[in-house]
Amino acid sequence: MNQYLLTKERDPSILILDFGSQYSELIARRIRETNVFSMVVSHAISIEEIKSINPKGLILSGGPSSVYEENAPKSDDKIFELGIPVLGICYGMQLMVKELGGVVMQADNKAEYGRAPINIDVNNDLLIGVKDLSIMWMSHGDSIERLPPNFLKNAHTDNTSHAVISNISNKLFGVQFHPEVVHSEYGMTVIKNFVYKICQCKADWTTDTFLEEAIPRIRNQVKKKKVLLALSGGVDSSTLAFLLHKAIGDQLTCMFIDQGFMRKGEPEFLMKFFDKKFHIRVEYINSRERFINKLSGVTDPEQKRKIIGAEFIRVFEEESKRLGPFDYLAQGTLYPDVIESAGTNIDPKTGERIAVKIKSHHNVGGLPKDLQFKLVEPLRKLFKDEVRNLGKALGLPDEIIKRHPFPGPGLAIRILGKVSDEKLNCLRNADWIVRDEITKAGLYNEIWQAFAVLLPVKTVGVMGDKRTYAWPVVIRCVSSEDGMTADWSKVPFEILEKISNRIVNEVSQVNRVVFDITSKPPGTIEWE
Ligand code: XMP
Repeated sequence: MNQYLLTKERDPSILILDFGSQYSELIARRIRETNVFSMVVSHAISIEEIKSINPKGLILSGGPSSVYEENAPKSDDKIFELGIPVLGICYGMQLMVKELGGVVMQADNKAEYGRAPINIDVNNDLLIGVKDLSIMWMSHGDSIERLPPNFLKNAHTDNTSHAVISNISNKLFGVQFHPEVVHSEYGMTVIKNFVYKICQCKADWTTDTFLEEAIPRIRNQVKKKKVLLALSGGVDSSTLAFLLHKAIGDQLTCMFIDQGFMRKGEPEFLMKFFDKKFHIRVEYINSRERFINKLSGVTDPEQKRKIIGAEFIRVFEEESKRLGPFDYLAQGTLYPDVIESAGTNIDPKTGERIAVKIKSHHNVGGLPKDLQFKLVEPLRKLFKDEVRNLGKALGLPDEIIKRHPFPGPGLAIRILGKVSDEKLNCLRNADWIVRDEITKAGLYNEIWQAFAVLLPVKTVGVMGDKRTYAWPVVIRCVSSEDGMTADWSKVPFEILEKISNRIVNEVSQVNRVVFDITSKPPGTIEWE
């Protein structure tokens, strides 16, 4: 193994300078889809830092500002003199134009949002393979009035005279559309042209190269020390367990804390799969009673989350002392968590957070900041899709890789109001039926999350000749890209009918089933 890789983290081939666009992260994902490693850094990154990273290309992201606003974000204008190819997207292009002596104007009556066909005037390397009059996704208020010296207009739209511009000899390019969004028909062509044709990147960011680099790096970090991992059964912690096991074998101990709020069969599946099948040491901690007792009488959703989070930490601390001592704690922190929690305070060389802050929402309960562990976070440069690919390459089954997201507090926040063993049992059975029928209908992988919610009211029904008075169950199925926004899934009536019949017949204490037709916003995906 190359000694270089043992000590040095891989530097990104493409650096994305972030000017506050909601799409900066998406640009990085798209570039990585072409097997080129890219990272998002602050627009304020210094020339020295860029030089030391030595990327093959720079992308200036879009952003909400206008280049003429006071305090509009800008980068060191020497970035255009480094000889590194630059692609400016929307705001990034306007900034490039202004800094290099062109003129950008507020286009009050010419603002353009949404799809627009682009007319190619003069082809260039960026536009090879892009069809004339194909649709690109525009979103801008300002437009270019005059190009800087040595720039050429390559394309326009009905509303924008400058949709693509370039200064070929200095390898500077600008696009007024968003190549990274799916609505841009040839967006990926533009991105590939930039990374391969213009920046001459190699397609060397793959699961195999990640593993080749990550395994020796983990071994080098951990040496002979012991590592503890809180396993939840989700794709992140499961992939992490497999990766660490491959790297350090029995130096890894996983702890699975069963709070009692998992779905039907999940704890048994996890233990069988990790411990028995793959011989990854998993300590099963049965804390069901502790958690349910702590929730006794609690109805407020935030209160539930806090109690579960605090109890999780207590159990974790007690058990890690009992099983330990451990030197390292492994965490399945992903790149979006790093970007979100550190904002722009990311060390661009290592991708490490400068201020350590973990959002409890994304973690199993959220671990305290003052635990006496050093951290191992080998997934911290990966996006979720990349973790799934890695998990798959490491041998994780679809049941884990394609598992729908499941909140840390589990079924406790899907039982509205007070949580009891009886209600948990009831919801577990109803939830199983929802997922079973959705899977049988071949819809599981099309849906972001499909689950049941138990309401804290009773309604009247009739079964046989008897009047019933029992709980209603809500079926919640949503489609989403990232959980931030979501639409309710248009599940065919026949499937809903089957689910409803089965729940009412098979789950005692439930006599009514309703279907949630609320999108997010205004609703949230979970009910609590
Ligand atoms: P909402 O309900 O806010 O959920 O639309 C968005 C996504 O986050 C998940 N979620 C959680 N995940 N701990 C978690 O680990 C939590 O407390 C939590 N609350 C919601 C939810 O399942 C959805 O995928």
